[in-house]
Amino acid sequence: MASSIIHFLLVLFVYISFSDAQLPTHPGIVFDLERDSSTLQYLVKINQGTPRREVKLVVDLGGKLPWFACREGYNSSSLRQVSCTSSQCSQADKPVSTCADPKICSISIRNPVTRSVGKGELISDIVTVKSDPDNQQTPVPSSRNVAFGCAATSNIFSGLAKASKGVAGLGRLSALSLASQFAVGFQYPNIFAVDLHDSVTDEKILETTGKIYFGGGPYIHYFWGISDLADRVLTYTPLLINPKRKEEYFVDVKSIKVHGETLLINNKLLSINKTTGIGGTKIDIRIPYTTLETSIYKTFIKAHTEWVDRLNIANAELMDFPNITRVAAVAPFTTCYDSSTIILRGPSVVNNVAPSVSFVFPTSVWNISIFDLVIAKEGVACVAFVDGGLKPMTSIVIGARQIGFLEFDILRSRLGFEEPNLKESVNS
Ligand SMILES: *[C@@H]1O[C@H](CO)[C@@H](O)[C@H](O)[C@H]1NC(C)=O
Ligand SMILES: *[C@@H]1O[C@H](CO)[C@@H](O)[C@H](O)[C@H]1NC(C)=O
Ligand SMILES: *[C@@H]1O[C@H](CO)[C@@H](O)[C@H](O)[C@H]1NC(C)=O
Ligand SMILES: *[C@@H]1O[C@H](CO)[C@@H](O)[C@H](O)[C@H]1NC(C)=O
Repeated sequence: MASSIIHFLLVLFVYISFSDAQLPTHPGIVFDLERDSSTLQYLVKINQGTPRREVKLVVDLGGKLPWFACREGYNSSSLRQVSCTSSQCSQADKPVSTCADPKICSISIRNPVTRSVGKGELISDIVTVKSDPDNQQTPVPSSRNVAFGCAATSNIFSGLAKASKGVAGLGRLSALSLASQFAVGFQYPNIFAVDLHDSVTDEKILETTGKIYFGGGPYIHYFWGISDLADRVLTYTPLLINPKRKEEYFVDVKSIKVHGETLLINNKLLSINKTTGIGGTKIDIRIPYTTLETSIYKTFIKAHTEWVDRLNIANAELMDFPNITRVAAVAPFTTCYDSSTIILRGPSVVNNVAPSVSFVFPTSVWNISIFDLVIAKEGVACVAFVDGGLKPMTSIVIGARQIGFLEFDILRSRLGFEEPNLKESVNS
């Protein structure tokens, strides 16, 4: 659908070529992501243990450590207990502070979906990775010992994708987060990046794939608009620390624009209350669609429908496009259109239109073009934002749908995003 226009947009914005990319001294590592069709969670596939096997873990940006079911169906001869006298144990959340024989490191683990807390113990096992082929021609396999939580509470897995064995915590300040452990183990800066673009051959939502990089770029990818390889061009905004939720990734959204119009919203909702941790904007790829606090959501939808009205009036004068027609909404969305009436206008017009949604940061703007609409069912395109409720903990949670590529640069405390943030496919 409308692929020629998207081709055009891609060609328009690509200007950095493969050859300009700087090679880092310590090549990073890369893992494939898989998207679960029922929960829409992203799973990272990790090769671990002896004999080596693939374990799938749900990516949790705000999690303190990786944890999984190491008791059932996981028989690894390289698995070791981490002693409660070790420095690694001192970095974990612990239900008890005692350290008696046999010196097991008892820890608390948290399910990011249900938010329930369970018991476990700290173990370590070998993880085998390949260096990123983007910055090292021949990927070099290597192994490191990685600390994991081993879940002891059996109902701690509810809400997690069936194919997963646990959770890959990528929390910001935790020494046990997968990002921190890889950075120390492989001696590269504490940076990771997620690529949630759909694979080129695969346009169905249920089979969406992606990648997660650790250790920095370049992020070379095949750009089908120009049929060549290119690095990603990133723009940055500072990451904020929420004193009550230090592991999570908050950003400073100052205002929101919908098709160029700034929304009139209660600005207090956009800042973090330092005492309660309530408010502000965070990134969470476990959430499939961006959620907005109810008053922001209503203002957002109003601006969107007014834009559609303006287009229809302009069309009435031009007489060469059908009116965009509202149809019954498909939950969780509230505003849907007959997708056959949504026609992307020619390049000369596209060139002049404002981005569908802009998150305005202090010194940069994250423009979301094209993929603010999602095909919810055949023939029905919905505004892909969801009402986050009246009193949510966080006012805006930017979810997977609105993310193409993001770099979490913990070292420099900044978030890198593509400008503009385009997804290669409209309907997934
Ligand atoms: C675990 O692996 C070892 C060595 O391969 C084997 O001897 C043992 O029977 C296995 N145990 C289970 C419960 O599968
Ligand atoms: C933060 O929340 C507390 C408790 O609700 C409230 O008393 C305080 O005024 C809030 N601070 C700001 C800056 O809004
Ligand atoms: C399209 O919508 C505009 C504005 O609401 C209206 O004036 C026009 O008559 C409509 N055209 C058709 C063909 O329904
Ligand atoms: C992003 O949006 C802003 C505001 O609409 C616009 O001025 C700017 O040119 C856009 N940036 C890109 C790269 O499209």
